[in-house]
Amino acid sequence: MPFDLLILGGGPAGYVAAIRAAQLGLKTACVEREPALGGTCLRVGCIPSKAMLESSEIFSASRHGLERHGVVLGPVQLDLARMLKRKDDVVGGLTRGIDGLFRKNGVTRLQGHARFTGPGAVTVTSSTGEAQTVTANHILIATGSRPSSLPGIEIDGSLIGTSTEALSYDAVPGHLVVIGAGYIGLELGSVWARLGSKVTVVEYLDRILPGMDREMADEAQKLLSKQGLEFRLGHKVQSARIEDGKAVVRCEGRDPIVADRVLVAVGRTPNTLDLGLDTTGIRLDPRGRIDVDDRFRTSIPGHYAIGDVIRGAMLAHKAEEEGVACVEFIAGKHGHVDYDTIPGVCYTHPEIASVGKTEEQLKESGTPYKKGVFHYRANGRAHALGETDGRAKILSHAETDRILGVHILGARAGDLIAEAVVAMSFHASAEDLARCSHAHPTLAEILKEAALATDGRALHS
Ligand code: NAI
Repeated sequence: MPFDLLILGGGPAGYVAAIRAAQLGLKTACVEREPALGGTCLRVGCIPSKAMLESSEIFSASRHGLERHGVVLGPVQLDLARMLKRKDDVVGGLTRGIDGLFRKNGVTRLQGHARFTGPGAVTVTSSTGEAQTVTANHILIATGSRPSSLPGIEIDGSLIGTSTEALSYDAVPGHLVVIGAGYIGLELGSVWARLGSKVTVVEYLDRILPGMDREMADEAQKLLSKQGLEFRLGHKVQSARIEDGKAVVRCEGRDPIVADRVLVAVGRTPNTLDLGLDTTGIRLDPRGRIDVDDRFRTSIPGHYAIGDVIRGAMLAHKAEEEGVACVEFIAGKHGHVDYDTIPGVCYTHPEIASVGKTEEQLKESGTPYKKGVFHYRANGRAHALGETDGRAKILSHAETDRILGVHILGARAGDLIAEAVVAMSFHASAEDLARCSHAHPTLAEILKEAALATDGRALHS
């Protein structure tokens, strides 16, 4: 009997789609080639990096930040092996949790590499070489992405590697060179800087975090520089290779940089190869992503794609929303993804979070806007926490006051941005947000004050 729905890939896009499909009564199977479910995000991405960010932050605070709280420790030591094991335990627990959710919802799990043999038919080959053909009325491709590289960079998976390796270095590198000042470069660069590495971040552009609001990115760069990250902006990396046992990074027109380890974090590429897509006729866009319409339908009926293999931000929560919406469409319901309110969070210290338009985008589109900024240093809770760096910025339409963008740099920004997402999803004005009661003393008051500031009415600055 064919399945109603076969999902290729067990990451946040695929496994969430599988659970929702099963809830909707579809007979669903999910193929994943790795032994653990969860995809890049759970196994070698979001979750292990957040575990390492937390552990390294505790280590760093124990060395430098606790005295001011009146907490005096003796010499603090790093047990890297235990820190890495804790990270692996966090990952293991969560990936096993997805197995449990599959069982609870009656999703069939198939382990192996999935490959199309034609429209509607997929062969799943296990690691021992056994192959089975699976047929389904609907097939959903959610195979994610893999780290990109650049010509001239010789990734050896040891001295020169990607985020996967950088989550598990067995010793703290003396000098880590990070290529790319995006999310991955800044998060993992922060981890190893806190654990004692000299970290040099090499970036092609004249700024960090392309796509984020410029004011926030520039301020974040200052704060990260104070923490010891060295930024070399406007550096175009041409090669990275091993020479005499050391990694050497060469940039156009600059002196070579010698490193103990190199982390290549220059973006990710959709996983569309080795899927047998050519046997189906499924069309790719010019950037090698699967071309889909607004209901995630590919060019071949009955075949869909979501997450990192299609257009849009490569973010786990965007992929999850697409998974739910896509199977709701398949089940004859009305799926919905609001791409204007998908937040982005970079989990450095402090965090950088954002939703909606940046100031640059509003200027470029000629949209008239008001701007309200409120600083952490004017918030009581931030002082109590000892977290006074950063600011929140609300951009609202100059005539309608509708909130168009919210950008937060500061402690717990990743949690605070949720309020902005809700407000924007309900098309709130800055006045609406300003008139909501915010518990005192909380960091959330910073957003209320930023909303008041769009009208020049902030109370505490
Ligand atoms: P990215 O696209 O965020 O940043 C890559 C950086 O590399 C850019 O700043 C780019 O200008 C730079 N670059 C490109 N070529 C270069 C060259 N030749 N020399 C020097 N610099 C060069 O990519 P990243 O950080 O690898 O992340 C990949 C994806 O994973 C992103 O789409 C991101 O959204 C996602 N991600 C999200 C996280 C989160 O939500 N917290 C965490 C980690 C990744």
